[in-house]
Amino acid sequence: MSKPKLLSTHLLFERPRKKLDEYFEVEYWMGEERPSREEFLKRVAGKDALVCLLTEKIDEQMLEIAGPHLRIVANVAVGYDNIDVLACTKHHVAVTNTPGVLDETTADFTWALLMAVARRLIEADRMARSGAWKKWNLDQLCGTDIWGKTLGIIGFGRIGRAVARRALGFRMRVIYSGTSRAPLEIEKELNAEYVSRDAVFEQADFVSLHVPLNPATRGLIGPQEFARMKSTAFLINTTRGPVVQEAALIDALERGLIAGAALDVFEREPIIPDGLRRDNVVLAPHLGSASIETRTKMAMIAVENAIALFSGQRPPTILNPEALLKT
Ligand code: DGY
Repeated sequence: MSKPKLLSTHLLFERPRKKLDEYFEVEYWMGEERPSREEFLKRVAGKDALVCLLTEKIDEQMLEIAGPHLRIVANVAVGYDNIDVLACTKHHVAVTNTPGVLDETTADFTWALLMAVARRLIEADRMARSGAWKKWNLDQLCGTDIWGKTLGIIGFGRIGRAVARRALGFRMRVIYSGTSRAPLEIEKELNAEYVSRDAVFEQADFVSLHVPLNPATRGLIGPQEFARMKSTAFLINTTRGPVVQEAALIDALERGLIAGAALDVFEREPIIPDGLRRDNVVLAPHLGSASIETRTKMAMIAVENAIALFSGQRPPTILNPEALLKT
């Protein structure tokens, strides 16, 4: 019997790739760069399944071009703001993401950024590497302490909590806001206080963002939030760029409303505006979950979802189970 046809917009890692090849006739995108929209649409036409990255936009146009055989879009990411889930449901296309496996890795990276910006690690590396370091000096590249400070977390889901857990070792006060309050035992375990969103901005020395991008969170952090922040405070963003109004952030940095920022995500990736290329801003190219272990697990989940669907089972991390209902 012939295997279902699947487009994978990445070669994936060896283990998930081998598994995928067992069940599907796979066309892999092998280019070094991400495929252009045109190339992607050309390749997805007539496929039964799609494994894609967050760089691919899944919308009505794509679904029309893919055609009626397409049954699943398995996103290799936990965030799925690249996917029009309602349109997929309408076309009876299952959508899956990769929750759970990247929380700790993303929390690690959030802390890497926080520590880098607080202790001026990038400037220090530049000085040491370039030969510009002539002598030790008492006030050389002095940063700001992390331990004992207040960490403010916006969005207290799995990643927000993993970030909070790491703050215990730094004897920090942790405050958070979110759509709902966490269970008391979680607050106790993480020594975290539920406060209003305004209070997070007013009191925190480090504000770390962990809300998903959706219509309610797009542009959530703007001029009012920066005006509330302490001039000694830092913004850390490892979620999605459009949660922050980038122009307002640049303005806040220029006017010294905040001390700095550490950013893994941007409004229009991979574009990084010049206004963010400053010594008090640490920049990374969307690497929160980028460890070999975690990225392999993410790819594996996407593969398992596709296999489950074509084996007559419910994909384990399906986002729109109603897509499976027959009309
Ligand atoms: C995600 O999974 O949504 C990240 O942004 C990439 O790991």
